[in-house]
Amino acid sequence: MTEKKIQKINGVRGMNDLLPADAAQWTHLEHVLRDLTRAYGYEFLRTPIVEATAVFQRGIGEVTDIVEKEMYSFEDRLNGEQLTLRPEGTAALVRSVIENNLLYEGPKRLWYTGPMFRHERPQRGRYRQFHQFGIEALGFAGPDIDAEIILMGQRLWDELGLKGVRLEMNSLGQADERAQHRAALVTYFEQNASQLDEDSERRLLINPLRILDSKNPAMQELIEGAPKLLDFLGEESLAHFNAVQDLLKANNIPCKINPRLVRGLDYYNLTVFEWVTEELGAQGTIAGGGRYDPLIERMGGKAAPACGWAMGMERVLELMKVSKSLPEAAPLCDVFVLHQGGETLTAGMIIAERLRSAGIDTVLFCPPDGHSASFKSQMKKADASGAAYAVIIGLDELVKNEAQLKDLRGTGEQRAVPLEGVLEAVIDALVGSSE
Ligand code: HAM
Repeated sequence: MTEKKIQKINGVRGMNDLLPADAAQWTHLEHVLRDLTRAYGYEFLRTPIVEATAVFQRGIGEVTDIVEKEMYSFEDRLNGEQLTLRPEGTAALVRSVIENNLLYEGPKRLWYTGPMFRHERPQRGRYRQFHQFGIEALGFAGPDIDAEIILMGQRLWDELGLKGVRLEMNSLGQADERAQHRAALVTYFEQNASQLDEDSERRLLINPLRILDSKNPAMQELIEGAPKLLDFLGEESLAHFNAVQDLLKANNIPCKINPRLVRGLDYYNLTVFEWVTEELGAQGTIAGGGRYDPLIERMGGKAAPACGWAMGMERVLELMKVSKSLPEAAPLCDVFVLHQGGETLTAGMIIAERLRSAGIDTVLFCPPDGHSASFKSQMKKADASGAAYAVIIGLDELVKNEAQLKDLRGTGEQRAVPLEGVLEAVIDALVGSSE
């Protein structure tokens, strides 16, 4: 009889597991992010991973790559609701802020983190499930808050030791200014229609701004000469943009004005910015954001200004790796407990619990076969755990109501201690070795 091999089931393409070897790096990043948000008075807000599809259609805009092509949308089988796995955090957060009336008492500074989903072609730095950290300041109209959120980003890159991050900024002005620019663009491209490639001819009819994104080298000269939005900004928009730049300069934040910077989401006005690096290949934007004054009203709330940004956590961790600023992996535990099964296991388990109650991270050896294992193989595990000390409870020791305490990282010294005194001996040893 031929045995049929059971097929294994793989994860979904573009959606990654976080493996134990990388977990400490994520925890480190999360700690830094928590400290950063506290330092600036931002409060945490968590929204569900699934929202009504309309949240993103209306929030991000129907004619965007995200909404047109990249959303994981489905119909709820039970009640027919149209639902979507969130592709970003801003629209969902604004939905929650409106629904919970959070701006009732005035402006709010908020932050969030979690998985986002976009059906893009996976490659280095681009995944179908990825994680964002984002901050959103709602209810503030002035350029001071634009500058504040950018300072937060710069502080974060410094804190994480990231190298080679550049801030690029632009102003998208207001809707009427963009309309005038768009009309000028259409005229310009129509006048130069013979130089347009097939893709751009199509874009001219649907969304002429997208021609500016063309990667076709033959189109670059034409694009270079196209009218720039910055030249269409009115006095107020320019004053806001200049004030942001002045505040950044006063805080020694270098910034490159990129008149071609447009964002892939439709809710922005005035200031938009991205932090980019050349170190990560094609997916070099580690974070992006800007002001989105029209969004709250567009989502059904009382009109209020807002701005924020979000970063890709995978990309930031990758850049930390390139910048060699990832923290060293911490040991698994402080103490590893070895035993010979039976009564020695019982004694070991009691001691391990006592150590943990005192805040000492402890791993108790568990034999894979459910019985026992040689001290030699247990000691290999103890060494690999990175523990500073091993507590060894053999049958001989147990008879004498003792355990052996072995230094695993320093001198290798081993000595007998009374079972009742293991906790005190371990504390003394740990304090002694940290002095
Ligand atoms: P976004 O530019 O679409 O903006 O995404 C922000 C960041 O998320 C990107 O700069 C990138 O680092 C990361 N990211 C985006 N897509 C992927 C992907 N497929 N794989 C890995 N990382 C990715 C927003 O989402 C806005 N909500 C930002 C914002 C907040 N604007 C105002 N407030």
